[in-house]
Amino acid sequence: MTDFKKLEDFDFNGKKVLVRVDLNVPVANGAVTDSTRIERLAPTMSYIVEQGGTPILLSHFGRPKGQVNKDMSLAVVVPAIQKAFGQPVEFVDTDWTDVSAATEHIAKGAAGTIFVMENTRFHAGEEANDLDLAKRMASLGDIYLNDAFSAAHRAHASTEALARELPSGAGRAMEAELSALQAGLGKPQTPVVAIVGGAKVSTKLDLLENLLTKVEGLVIGGGMANTFLHAEGIDVGKSLCEKDLADTARRIYDKSADENCAIILPVDGVVAWHFEANAPHRTYGLEAMDKEGMILDAGEKSIERIKGAIDEAKTVIWNGPLGAFELDPFGHATIEVARYVAERTKQGKLVSVAGGGDTVAALAKAGVVQDFTYVSTAGGAFLEWMEGKPLPGVEALKA
Ligand code: 3PG
Ligand code: MG
Repeated sequence: MTDFKKLEDFDFNGKKVLVRVDLNVPVANGAVTDSTRIERLAPTMSYIVEQGGTPILLSHFGRPKGQVNKDMSLAVVVPAIQKAFGQPVEFVDTDWTDVSAATEHIAKGAAGTIFVMENTRFHAGEEANDLDLAKRMASLGDIYLNDAFSAAHRAHASTEALARELPSGAGRAMEAELSALQAGLGKPQTPVVAIVGGAKVSTKLDLLENLLTKVEGLVIGGGMANTFLHAEGIDVGKSLCEKDLADTARRIYDKSADENCAIILPVDGVVAWHFEANAPHRTYGLEAMDKEGMILDAGEKSIERIKGAIDEAKTVIWNGPLGAFELDPFGHATIEVARYVAERTKQGKLVSVAGGGDTVAALAKAGVVQDFTYVSTAGGAFLEWMEGKPLPGVEALKA
């Protein structure tokens, strides 16, 4: 956390401050439906404005693949930004090939105005991390801040090359994110228990391999647990299961023993015969799975085991739900465990860090987002961080 500059290290007075933010927020019928990512930018914005600087926001929105596509214009987020920051906001249109009109627009702005630039991905140079595009971006400002942890796994012009073109540092949200993550896995209080769920092992192999070497307990849940159970010779019936990954699962298991990491798998499952909300269901022990059914959630015995592991932990990090949480009542295990982690966090018994789109939705459903020590709004970036990979947008800020 000491290897890059923070807000206090700059003099923003009279300066134009390019801030890479993540305005890739959900939108429906022309309005932002969840402004969590925007609200988290407020401390950086108010700091810059109070110090006499002019924030110029840079972000991608959707995946327009290097083409101007007005369906993905960032103009749509302006009202939400105005509401969150209580400051006048102006949208600056550009296709990023020539920024002279944008430069003039910004020069004419009144003091205290926040500018929102058009979608950086309207130009192919963004995803190509193109230096010429980064130089055009740099020409718009004097200082660069990155406040978009959730886009930091991308080596793009606005997250990577641009950081090298101007004096650069981390905004408040980025700083908070990095220090929370440091507490979660960088220099955590041990023992650490990681909870990893979700549908597929195949998307989380790097994650599991990295966690094994770092944590004392690894709870594997959700559909991916079935692959591990299958590898152990358990018949999981019609459950989601990547049978071709049985060898991989066994290798991960063996490695966990070498690393003194306890893998905690379900010991029972809530089985249904249709993948739908409120489908008839019954809990089975693993030895007696119904071959026609599919496991959609962890059972009570499994939940008790997971709670037992959490009782031992001083740090819990979490990515991925423990069942088909989007279908009632199969979110039961996820919600139950989330509330338990939240409770122990409130009692000061552990530090809890969670992230990833599904995970945040699950914690929101459990009503405990505020009770975790930190909940990251990042998806891919949080996962890559948990995988132990360097994030280009963070690396570029280091001096
Ligand atoms: C996200 O929403 O996860 C980030 O904004 C990154 O978006 P991307 O996956 O399109 O790069
Ligand atoms: Mg994404």
